[in-house]
Amino acid sequence: MNRREIVLASIVHVLGARPNFVKAAPVIEALAARGARQAVVHTGQHYDERMSDVFFRELGLPEPDVNLGVGSGSHAVQTAALMTGLEQEFIGRSPGLVIVYGDVNSTIAAALVAAKLGIPVAHVEAGLRSFDMTMPEEVNRRLTDQLSDLCLVTSPEAIGHLADEGVDVARCHLVGNPMIDTLLKNLDTFDTGAVRAAHGLPDRYVLATLHRPANVDSPDTAAVLVKNVHGVADLVDVVIPVHPRGRANLLAAGLDDHDGVHVLEPLGYIDFLAAVRGAAAVVTDSGGLQEETTILGVPCLTVRPNTERPITITHGTNRLVGFDELVPRTRAALEEGARGTSRTPPLWDGAAGPRCAEVIMEFLGD
Ligand code: UD1
Repeated sequence: MNRREIVLASIVHVLGARPNFVKAAPVIEALAARGARQAVVHTGQHYDERMSDVFFRELGLPEPDVNLGVGSGSHAVQTAALMTGLEQEFIGRSPGLVIVYGDVNSTIAAALVAAKLGIPVAHVEAGLRSFDMTMPEEVNRRLTDQLSDLCLVTSPEAIGHLADEGVDVARCHLVGNPMIDTLLKNLDTFDTGAVRAAHGLPDRYVLATLHRPANVDSPDTAAVLVKNVHGVADLVDVVIPVHPRGRANLLAAGLDDHDGVHVLEPLGYIDFLAAVRGAAAVVTDSGGLQEETTILGVPCLTVRPNTERPITITHGTNRLVGFDELVPRTRAALEEGARGTSRTPPLWDGAAGPRCAEVIMEFLGD
């Protein structure tokens, strides 16, 4: 992109971490189809090839116009670096709108910088609430929504949460779930046999992902979690692509000291969803995976005391479990299998990106 096009770009998407990429792809595609002038600013919050580049390639995301290379750090260090870098970008580009996604530190940093520069903000995945302020994501969600001119909502109850917090409902639009657009668009490419063969996986397995600070940051907590994962592995093989955040503590607690546990590096989007699709059940503390299993009909056991995505319980396959419930609840899920009772939440239909684009273009006066 040459300098003149950059100056003319009227929408800036701020992407930083793995789940952002999956949500942004359909929105960027739909805006491109409507002729919007767009730029992608990658903050560099996630930077490993397996945490970032592979998603850009597989999801057909445009090459970022800039990567700020912010990297890792404590919340204050990372958020401060994000804000400093983003301020320069926003001043240089003077966009008509900044679009932020989800609940990561890049999301709140971009919303705060844009709001203080007087640049309108659209938040994709607004209004989700776990009501658990010990989660960094809950802090990020609440503050981002207060700063947003457009709250693009994936789940109906989110509008009630926003209204309860004083957000004008005229700013809120139920658009559906762009992460599910990405899932449905790529469904035919999820080849479970290929991913099994590539990684030497058994036919029957539970797929696990564990990276929440509350679960993996303390060595003691990680040890209790690993003991219970081993309990699951006594029932059925466990395949676990390990997020870099929990790697040291989970391995120090002996995660791979069990023949039934298959520790993998983080997988790209296509391989990961192929592994999820072929799993007998999923054990996770991820947000997005609760939604993806709802659509794929794979039983999901979420190792958390709460969820900001209750629709995955009311409509989908998701169940919240404590550490000590993990083994019996996994056994029950394996016996029960896919319940076939899962209903698709409203507007999780593969057309959320175009609906986002419509609201955004109307906002911009097109
Ligand atoms: C972040 C989000 C979380 C999201 C997750 C998805 C925040 C507060 N949290 O958590 O909501 O579910 O992304 O993955 O924004 N690291 C690497 N390589 C990378 C990125 C990170 O090794 O490419 C390691 C670093 O040691 C880093 C740690 O992972 O310190 C944590 O990374 P960070 O981006 O701070 O938070 P996540 O745990 O990834």
